[in-house]
Amino acid sequence: MPLRVNADRLNQSLADLARIGAIDGGGVCRLAFTDEDKAGRDFVEARMRALGLEVRIDAIGNLVGIRPGREEGPIVMTGSHLDTVGRGGRYDGALGVMAGLEVLATLQEAGITTRRPLAVAAFVNEEGNRFTPDVMGSLFFRGDLDLDAVRATVGIDGTTLGDNLDRTGMAGPDDFRDLPLRAFVELHIEQGPVLEEDGVTIGVVDGVQGILWHEFRVQGASNHAGVTPMDRRQDAGFVAAAIAAQVRHLARSIRGQRATVGTLEVEPGYINIIPDRARLTADLRNPDAVRLREMAVRLLGFAQEVAAAEGVALEHRELAHIPPVRFDEEVVAAIEQAAKACGYTHRRMTSGAGHDAQILATRCPTAMLFVPSVGGVSHDVTEYTRPEDVAAGANVLLHTIRTLAA
Ligand code: GLV
Ligand code: MN
Ligand code: MN
Repeated sequence: MPLRVNADRLNQSLADLARIGAIDGGGVCRLAFTDEDKAGRDFVEARMRALGLEVRIDAIGNLVGIRPGREEGPIVMTGSHLDTVGRGGRYDGALGVMAGLEVLATLQEAGITTRRPLAVAAFVNEEGNRFTPDVMGSLFFRGDLDLDAVRATVGIDGTTLGDNLDRTGMAGPDDFRDLPLRAFVELHIEQGPVLEEDGVTIGVVDGVQGILWHEFRVQGASNHAGVTPMDRRQDAGFVAAAIAAQVRHLARSIRGQRATVGTLEVEPGYINIIPDRARLTADLRNPDAVRLREMAVRLLGFAQEVAAAEGVALEHRELAHIPPVRFDEEVVAAIEQAAKACGYTHRRMTSGAGHDAQILATRCPTAMLFVPSVGGVSHDVTEYTRPEDVAAGANVLLHTIRTLAA
């Protein structure tokens, strides 16, 4: 029987973390750079220190705890994120961080020091709900983002990210751009229905689909709802609604395409006033980069046409662009072998959700593993993964890391 993590301790840790930012219905709200987000990170940092890890924090709050190996050199890193969507669950992101710490605790108790150093990372702002882009922490970690530009980012509540960093004290002095990495492995809940429907415990993830986030702002003219003839309107609300409907329509005609309008606001927002302003966002995903781009181009073309016909001004902005990735075959195979060694059923799959691993993949050999989400539900307070599946994921993570760090 291979070494196992302490399943009770891990599930208890997840429950303890879920109390921070708890919301009605059993969910969690720890939007990035809020006090709740900071409290969640403090909780994890304290766990890292209790494990004797060397704690490092960068200028936007990415948190990494390092455990030395028998030799110096490139690190085998695991981890995920601690922020949540605005109405999220207890497992998205949290599982990968807490399972990483549980793996290190298990090795500690077993008196095992791996040849290579190990690390657990908690990336900031993976969800991008309050400040875009999403996966911001891992993008910064990889060296893609300029600190001043990140700090100047304005959130949905009108505050800047920099002010929130200063208020919460989340920033630290470290820089991870030169951190030598042997591999990165991220454990996550599947968030979809495939594993449960197939009756399989471990998803061996070999790639992630691409993500585009687009924003449309419409400027029309407000006027009286009863008096203004239909052919003399500059109705920003109508244009926004037409774009939203087209998002669904186009997605049905492009293979592999998923598309969501998650925000749609009209102003001034009264029943008998034609809206003069509207804003909506489109979340577009496809495993194929060419089809994803086609979706975006056709949507923008439609938006420009409908705006011109209505005589309103249209502004368009790309908020995030994360290309699809294929994961490293050696790391994928190590996960598969670990699942086999632990005696769990497993299958290969592509991730529909975006992840920090998608960004790390161009920095070092990277892959992910999934455990089942009951009912395929995520980004919702009812998100749930069974305690035995939580433990299974952590066990496979443990053995994958041992292999990569040997
Ligand atoms: C991250 O949770 C995503 O939006 O896929
Ligand atoms: Mn996540
Ligand atoms: Mn998420």
